[in-house]
Amino acid sequence: MKKIPIRLLPLAICFLPLALFAQKTSVQNIDRRVEDLLAKMTVDEKIGQLNQAAGDISTGTDVKQDNLLNQIRAGRVSSVISHTNFSNKITMQRAAVNETRLGIPLVFGFDVIHGYKTIFPIPLAQAATWNMAAIEASERIAAAEAAADGQNWAFSPMVDITHDPRWGRVMEGAGEDPYLGSRVAEARVRGFQGDDLSLPNTLAACAKHYAAYGFPEGGREYNTVDMSDQRLRQTVLPPFEAAARAGSATFMNAFNTLNGVPASMNKYLVTDILRGEWGWKGLVVSDWDSFGETIKHGAAEDDADASAKCLSAGSDMDMAGGTFQRGLKKALEQGRVTQAQLDEAVRRVLRLKFSLGLFDDPFRYLDPKRREQTLEKPEYRQASRAMAAESMVLLKNDGGLLPLNAGGPFKKIAIIGPYADSRGNKDYMSFWTLGLGMRQYDSTKVVTPAMALKPALEALGFEVTITPVCLDAACTEVDYSAALNAARAADLVIACIGERGIDCGESRSVSTLELPRGQERLVQIAARGNKPAVVVLFNSRPLSFPWISENVPAILVAWQPGFEAGNALTDVLTGKVNPSAKLPVTFPRSTGQIPMYYNHLGTARPQTRLGEIWTSGYLDLPNTPAYPFGYGLSYTTFSYSDLKLNKSVINKSETLEASITVTNTGKVAGEEVVQCYIRDLFADISRPVKELKGFEKIKLAPGESRTVTFKLKEKDLGYWNHQSKFKADAGKFKVFVGGNSSEVKEAEFELK
Ligand code: GLC
Repeated sequence: MKKIPIRLLPLAICFLPLALFAQKTSVQNIDRRVEDLLAKMTVDEKIGQLNQAAGDISTGTDVKQDNLLNQIRAGRVSSVISHTNFSNKITMQRAAVNETRLGIPLVFGFDVIHGYKTIFPIPLAQAATWNMAAIEASERIAAAEAAADGQNWAFSPMVDITHDPRWGRVMEGAGEDPYLGSRVAEARVRGFQGDDLSLPNTLAACAKHYAAYGFPEGGREYNTVDMSDQRLRQTVLPPFEAAARAGSATFMNAFNTLNGVPASMNKYLVTDILRGEWGWKGLVVSDWDSFGETIKHGAAEDDADASAKCLSAGSDMDMAGGTFQRGLKKALEQGRVTQAQLDEAVRRVLRLKFSLGLFDDPFRYLDPKRREQTLEKPEYRQASRAMAAESMVLLKNDGGLLPLNAGGPFKKIAIIGPYADSRGNKDYMSFWTLGLGMRQYDSTKVVTPAMALKPALEALGFEVTITPVCLDAACTEVDYSAALNAARAADLVIACIGERGIDCGESRSVSTLELPRGQERLVQIAARGNKPAVVVLFNSRPLSFPWISENVPAILVAWQPGFEAGNALTDVLTGKVNPSAKLPVTFPRSTGQIPMYYNHLGTARPQTRLGEIWTSGYLDLPNTPAYPFGYGLSYTTFSYSDLKLNKSVINKSETLEASITVTNTGKVAGEEVVQCYIRDLFADISRPVKELKGFEKIKLAPGESRTVTFKLKEKDLGYWNHQSKFKADAGKFKVFVGGNSSEVKEAEFELK
């Protein structure tokens, strides 16, 4: 802030109220400017403002689109989605501003899912850090890069809860829990939007996919969703409400039907709850042609019908499908929508563009110099590396095999597997890295495990061999021999297995969680004869690997870590970074256990052991997961003691305080995510056996203890009942505190 020279102070003081007034009335100022502009617009121009055209990347079904520039000049385009070419965007903006009657600027939207030009770990991995500040910071970087590249609007955060890891988009969200999902949603909205949308390093956020897209039957992408209002409100909506209250400028419709009604035309969702109950005033954009897809769902007859139903439900902008262009004017003429409804949707579009500063300076985000200075700054890669290392979950470390350091029992290390040193398929990343391009991208920007581990381990005195194994469908024949010879010649095997990056994300559902072809077998024969082994999983979802879980001493979930995959893995395997991540999603033993999530109901016949007759269980597997929600190990150990409550009975206006002492009982400093859960023992309806209500990530030196306190109020004890009422019932509750959802200390209290 520039200092005001003393002699000018009297002048500044008299202008100060004006400056504050201008700032203060920015909302009113925008509304006035919106009304002025709206009053000048024709019906065609209004409908044009509700049309979002596809750019040079298509992220969905084929849609018919004539020459984009001509469409823009004709005033039929309000926004362009997924356009990567920077100079094109300048050309398009010039056409919109200089060659249309009213010169309304375009708004550019893009899928900024886990980084933009500098690729970060997938969102599910970021959630595994339970570090909201780090998540917010990673979105600030993504926003800085995307905004410098001419994007104004991120189609992110994806806040869908899911209980089905067969669904490919589990990688895009924050897992199975609405409380963690809500905190992550808030952090990501703050990260993208900052304090001022009109700044050239912030993006409008977009909470998606509204709603319940994460509950497709069979975990099969785009499939039917049918659920009670109780589950919708208790499990699905909290992260959306959190995003709305955090100020997300936009929401995106989901593709799916919810209880038979396509989300895009679902007035209950879009108007009654989002705009009515939550009082949210932003813009709702369809998902890719989801307005037109109401016809394919069989819930609309034609373009005019689809337009009428979607607009009157409260959905405003048509992504890529052209349904509004073809049918909205007819719907208006038929009286199926009113001028007022059309105007309200256009207001929301104009309000977004004004708040982004696009009317004040349509080229604010299209500055070649800023672009040059901003993209791929070295510190962005460092942030990505730190986030990736913090996201890796240590599932097993028998005998303290990890970290690897000089002077240990091993000399020769064989690094094997399909992801030891992969260069293609967006490996270590995901389909959602469109800022790099759709399929062709510069894979040399990704640090592979081999590139980083080999020199680092050799510097520690190890002899290291690298033996990639091609196992995916593209391989002519599966040849284990070289990898097995390398494993036989070594004292320790590091097997890098998991999924291809390109197999992670939208329309990437799988029918089984088992490891892709031949991978578990590779590990079985490489680790034959109890050869010490470390399995590193590059995965975008929970997978099931029972033999590995049983027989391999060290297992690390690396997720899809982004550009700095190899460096982050090296930091963790050599102990430079002590793993602290915790699972944001349950890892089932088998696909057959799905849906499996920690905050389930107890049933009237809970099973306590395998084979216990007349109880809810399977003949062939225990009810427990392979690894529970909230689970993750460290290179040190932590103990929990002295769980204390400030009261054993509280009334509805009081706060319960649950305090516990956490001690680092190991030899190295480490971070621990202390988790607080509750159970409502008696209510109007059956309530989950546990529900996350708080967490705190703390760092402790060896031997250090710290008391962590969680505060619970009535709203934390409330729930949505079968009559869609939110309430907290008087009665007994349990509170649980621990380092994961299954190993906890517990205490009981009563709400009067
Ligand atoms: C896709 C996705 C959505 C994305 C949009 C634009 O189909 O469902 O998440 O933002 O289309 O790419």
